[in-house]
Amino acid sequence: MPLTTSLNTNHPSIAQSASTRGAPDPWASPEWVRHQGLSEWVRQIAELAQPEAILWCDGSESQNQLLCDQMVEAGTLRRLNPAKRPNSYLAWSDPSDVARVEDRTFICSNQREDAGPTNHWVAPDAMRATLNGLFEGCMRGRTLYVIPFSMGPLGSPIAQIGVELSDSPYVVVNMRIMTRMGRAVLDQLGTDGTFVPCVHSVGMPLVDAQGTVQADVAWPCNPTKYIVHFPETREIWSFGSGYGGNALLGKKCFALRIASHMGRAARDQDGMGWLAEHMLILGVTSPSGDKKHIAAAFPSACGKTNFAMLIPPAGFDGWKVTTIGDDIAWIRPRPDPVTGQMRLYAINPEAGYFGVAPGTGYKTNPNAMATLHANVIFTNVALTDDGDVWWEGMSEEPPAHCLDWTGRDWTPESARAEGRKAAHPNARFTAPASQCPSVDPAWDDPAGVAIDAFIFGGRRSSTVPLVTEARDWVEGVYMAATMGSETTAAAAGQQGVVRRDPFAMLPFCGYHMGDYFAHWLALGEALQQSGSTVPHIFCVNWFRTDEQGRFVWPGFGDNMRVLRWMFDRLNGQSGGTEHLFGVTPRYEDLDWQGLDFGPTRYQRITSIESAQWQEELKLHDELFERLAQRMPPALRVARDALAERLRLAVA
Ligand code: OXD
Ligand code: MN
Repeated sequence: MPLTTSLNTNHPSIAQSASTRGAPDPWASPEWVRHQGLSEWVRQIAELAQPEAILWCDGSESQNQLLCDQMVEAGTLRRLNPAKRPNSYLAWSDPSDVARVEDRTFICSNQREDAGPTNHWVAPDAMRATLNGLFEGCMRGRTLYVIPFSMGPLGSPIAQIGVELSDSPYVVVNMRIMTRMGRAVLDQLGTDGTFVPCVHSVGMPLVDAQGTVQADVAWPCNPTKYIVHFPETREIWSFGSGYGGNALLGKKCFALRIASHMGRAARDQDGMGWLAEHMLILGVTSPSGDKKHIAAAFPSACGKTNFAMLIPPAGFDGWKVTTIGDDIAWIRPRPDPVTGQMRLYAINPEAGYFGVAPGTGYKTNPNAMATLHANVIFTNVALTDDGDVWWEGMSEEPPAHCLDWTGRDWTPESARAEGRKAAHPNARFTAPASQCPSVDPAWDDPAGVAIDAFIFGGRRSSTVPLVTEARDWVEGVYMAATMGSETTAAAAGQQGVVRRDPFAMLPFCGYHMGDYFAHWLALGEALQQSGSTVPHIFCVNWFRTDEQGRFVWPGFGDNMRVLRWMFDRLNGQSGGTEHLFGVTPRYEDLDWQGLDFGPTRYQRITSIESAQWQEELKLHDELFERLAQRMPPALRVARDALAERLRLAVA
């Protein structure tokens, strides 16, 4: 007899695939699962976590609808007004479970040194013992969902398959948007394909070891959280959180932490390896039809989604920006089919956007707003009285009344009086990429797009100029390695503090950051040795402020001015001035049509203050000190060259 079950077993896809205790083989997999290793692993985890039932997710609309209906009934989701936001839902998380938990994130490599000083490390055996204890019986009374997913277009030579076992239906419906999920993935996996096993539990069983049943809550989670990666065996285990990157394991855990390790390890096989990066990918097309592809790394909540969906401002008629990805890029070297030259090809491993809602609005990102018209899951935004959503920055006029993300009454007056936000600053939308009006025709191309340039950006109120081009690959890697940024709400912890965030990968690199720099250097060297040209590298900072703390650069669509300069540089067609850090456009090198922005203001966001750079260099040195054991010598040389230029500038 099932102890409790919320599953409707009359539903055909569930009748086929759900099994309950008391049936002859409670953990038998459906007949369409042909991978015995997978079936055995699912059984093993079920024996440990002791769920009430197992549901194999087939990716179908009918199964998805059923899970959404159940979550509406359970209070996890609210159905939004279908006249305003068809087929869309709102979830409010537990107030303690609102962001990635970096201090509970572990890289459990066999050797501590391989994780490096920027990752939390625990010996694999000790961590396995902890996880065994935590996962034992942790799904009692719940359903274990088997979620097969592909990161990247199914069958792409760059794609990888994962299977997440989770006791959260919220995770299932999000993974269905964020990845290619369901039965087609298992068809691709065949009988013996490899997959990355990912185990996730919210850590709140509904039945205790004595059989006492407890009521469920709308957002189950556990104050104890572990987000664990075993890079050598390529496994992910996550306990205690249902939120974002802690729970949607294809995203940060697989597509960055495990994949970065895979890409580095692949170098031992093919001499080059590949890259898994925290980067958006966009296409820029000129009025004459010339097209370039650019991958850009920014730390969390620094406007990657806005940049990827940029609409060129007035005066840029005929220029077009198209979106391939907004958060993660997997990049592999391969010969160009026409010239035979090696180039770097990138895919977006994801199929949806898990974007930060606050600050996304009709003015700042109309493409994102159009993407969100239907089929979206919103998390931790406010609910309006007409059954729609709202967040700070969505529109100029706030609603006269709504329920904030904690379910409390909210009005503009109460917000002013109490300083209470309607949406949590890390509130998110989960939306299909295919709905984006600026989506690139090649966004889903299994071959990927050839990358012409990389951009690295941070959030810095001073010091770093609007844009700088590196003079060569090593200088570009140095710039990216020493990036700093002010922290945001995407991760739990203090906000607005400058921390080094090399390549925007600090929380996402699955191995020693020094080895990661060496991998970038080696890849550039291998490409150049093969006679190929490497992508240009640029560093940007949209966030310099004036004495009042206001941003000087308008950003958003006006970032097109910077993109256009880069585009022309790639064609050898625009000028700039060299300084100690690289090459920056002079005022006259940018296209100012349609914007009133004079040379004095431009000077404010491009000036290089030697005193600030001396302080900055000390921070570079601190990072290098931390990574000393594995710091590539070429970056020390680049550092010394910068120090010498600085010395001469000051002298
Ligand atoms: C994200 C992040 O969720 O970077 O994309 O935190
Ligand atoms: Mn991100």
